Amino acid sequence: MGEGKFHADYSNFGKTLKREALELVRMSFEALAEDSRYWVLNLSNAASLLWHAYHSLDIPVNWAGFYVVDRNVSKDLVLGPFQGKVACQSIQIGKGVCGVAALEKTTQCVPDVEQFPGHIACDGETQSEIVVPIVKDSQVIAVLDIDCLEKAAFDQDDTELLEALAVAISNSLDWPQ
Ligand code: SME
Repeated sequence: MGEGKFHADYSNFGKTLKREALELVRMSFEALAEDSRYWVLNLSNAASLLWHAYHSLDIPVNWAGFYVVDRNVSKDLVLGPFQGKVACQSIQIGKGVCGVAALEKTTQCVPDVEQFPGHIACDGETQSEIVVPIVKDSQVIAVLDIDCLEKAAFDQDDTELLEALAVAISNSLDWPQ
């Protein structure tokens, strides 16, 4: 933390381009995570950074957060830190966009959620969605999920930069065994 800098200052993205904003999210995340390897803390600040970055771009993201895999708790994905409205509390691996991303270990970029077979509508207003798996030691430990009120909100830039963020997140934390 630089002198005279508040933690909340990391939420001020100003007006910028999407690639720049998402690169700034990753750099800010890495700076904040220097102080912590605790997953709740790191995923919480990642969700906040993403929420503010997309809103600074006037992209109407209505949910940004994580579903986690903790075998001590459940065999399913369990709701983790997020920004937005109350959401589905657990999701079976292989079900919905999140479950498919976790099962296949691949990013799911969905321009129209109504066209995704088995999409789970936690919020009926969501139109498009991107889900990025977070992999540690070859295992999916969580998925990053971002939802938007507009169709086709996410593209190749989001995919690339969120995948880079997912690597930074994986490297930043220790995971429950
Ligand atoms: N739509 C997701 C469920 C999670 S919520 O969007 C927050 C899915 O189909 O997996």
